[in-house]
Amino acid sequence: MFLFHLFALALSTFSALPSSLAQDASSLVGTWSSGSRNVVTGAGFANPLNQTFIFPKTTGMSYSFSSDGFYEIARYRFTGNPAQPNCITGVMNFAHGTYTLQSNGSITMIPFGDGYQQVQDTCAAVSPVIDFFNTTELYVSWNTVQDATDGMLLNLFNFDGTPVPRLYLVSTEPNMLPTRSLTNSSVELTRRKRDVEGSSGMGLFARMAGALGVS
Ligand SMILES: *[C@@H]1O[C@H](CO)[C@@H](O)[C@H](O)[C@H]1NC(C)=O
Ligand SMILES: *[C@@H]1O[C@H](CO)[C@@H](O)[C@H](O)[C@H]1NC(C)=O
Ligand SMILES: *[C@@H]1O[C@H](CO)[C@@H](O)[C@H](O)[C@H]1NC(C)=O
Repeated sequence: MFLFHLFALALSTFSALPSSLAQDASSLVGTWSSGSRNVVTGAGFANPLNQTFIFPKTTGMSYSFSSDGFYEIARYRFTGNPAQPNCITGVMNFAHGTYTLQSNGSITMIPFGDGYQQVQDTCAAVSPVIDFFNTTELYVSWNTVQDATDGMLLNLFNFDGTPVPRLYLVSTEPNMLPTRSLTNSSVELTRRKRDVEGSSGMGLFARMAGALGVS
């Protein structure tokens, strides 16, 4: 009898979980940022018109989602260089587009095509490398949690199930650049030239991402 009550108690505690662990579309809407929350999507991070970045104080990542299906991502990461341990490579990455909440609980994000990234080796004499970034991203699962200390949190899981660093809600409004491709014609021309030369920004990011654990 005692055991049964214990079981019932455990069961009722368990069934209370879903109310705090949400996966409804409205709970995703807003601006989210990891770590010390210095990386935030929007005009304070990326200028797609001239493909420049504004360096945040610390590394981190940020995601924004609108209620009408748009997303934006800002990522700033460092990685070591095994060949030159005293050298650090910094990667800034911007992408935006449309997202879909799939019936299997995943999120797919399809970029507009104007995403780009900057890769800079602190030891290299050459200027930073700017490349296009147009990768469709799959996050296999997600949830939002109301935390007593940290407020709303977003847990996102990469295509391979690894977790994205915990994301804190920094604004209930999505902090986004205009939700369309923002590349101007001269950037577009450079892109076509590079495409003709056979250089792929995605390949570069994939290599960097592998080293960084970013997807
Ligand atoms: C890029 O555009 C931004 C916003 O208009 C401007 O503030 C910045 O100076 C530009 N940077 C370069 C290198 O042209
Ligand atoms: C969930 O759906 C997405 C989109 O259709 C698909 O890409 C992904 O492979 C699916 N995941 C699983 C585990 O079935
Ligand atoms: C970017 O990727 C999307 C999704 O695969 C594709 O529809 C679009 O044509 C691509 N844009 C460019 C400029 O490559």
